[in-house]
Amino acid sequence: MVELALPKNSVVQKGKIISASKENTPIYRVEVYRWSPDSGENPCMDTFNIPRDECGSMVLDVLLKIKNELDGSLTFRRSCREGVCGSCAMNVNGKNILACTKSLADYEGDTLKIYPLPHMSVVKDLVVDMTHFYEQYASIKPWIENSTAPKRERLQSEPERAALNELYDCVLCACCSTSCPSYWWNSERYLGPAVLLQAYRWIADSRDENTDERLNALDDAFKLYRCHTIMNCVDTCPKGLNPAKAIADIKKLLVQRA
Ligand code: SF4
Ligand code: SF4
Ligand code: FES
Repeated sequence: MVELALPKNSVVQKGKIISASKENTPIYRVEVYRWSPDSGENPCMDTFNIPRDECGSMVLDVLLKIKNELDGSLTFRRSCREGVCGSCAMNVNGKNILACTKSLADYEGDTLKIYPLPHMSVVKDLVVDMTHFYEQYASIKPWIENSTAPKRERLQSEPERAALNELYDCVLCACCSTSCPSYWWNSERYLGPAVLLQAYRWIADSRDENTDERLNALDDAFKLYRCHTIMNCVDTCPKGLNPAKAIADIKKLLVQRA
């Protein structure tokens, strides 16, 4: 269970205000969560006023503008800039997004409040510690298990291949898991929607021989059955995937097997 009593130094303070704005220019008012383990200070929200006509069209463009021109110490992850690596996940105006694929035009008003992914330990600013999430991912053995060595590639029929659609597209950004209340309270033992969708991706793969072992490993009151179909995961996934359905499909297979 998570520790509910917040430590004294977790109170978020007001931070600095930096303006890059020209006179009479429409701006984005960007409030960003800041915390550094080296400072010994409380976390704070820094405010950056950015002229709208001086940055690109995505949330990531605003962050890059801040980092490149106003405050080089702002820390966040990004790599591919096209929704493939999953590294730029963060919470903006209350919803988890990928900063590189989220358009600024999707937000009403001129204020963006940018936080790290919820309920994760912060390493620095918008960077969270993904160690436990990746350990959970490794636990579901995300690779094909098959004892035969094929002479050529392993063939699949069209329906077998289609069964992987909307499963293999997951970029492991953790937007869904960190928006799931069950994962907030039980992340030590509940695998969460992202890892369960990945688990189902290998169960559904016709080339894998270890379906029974995979189901055995998931048949657990905490690992799987902490999903209460609240559906935040579906609402949040920036790739339009449906982890709740994957979880329901695993449960269905366990019932059929029994
Ligand atoms: S449907 Fe299940 S996994 Fe998705 S947010 Fe709800 S409890 Fe979490
Ligand atoms: S299911 Fe969607 S939100 Fe969850 S990790 Fe995969 S891509 Fe991200
Ligand atoms: S930078 Fe790769 S998904 Fe956003």
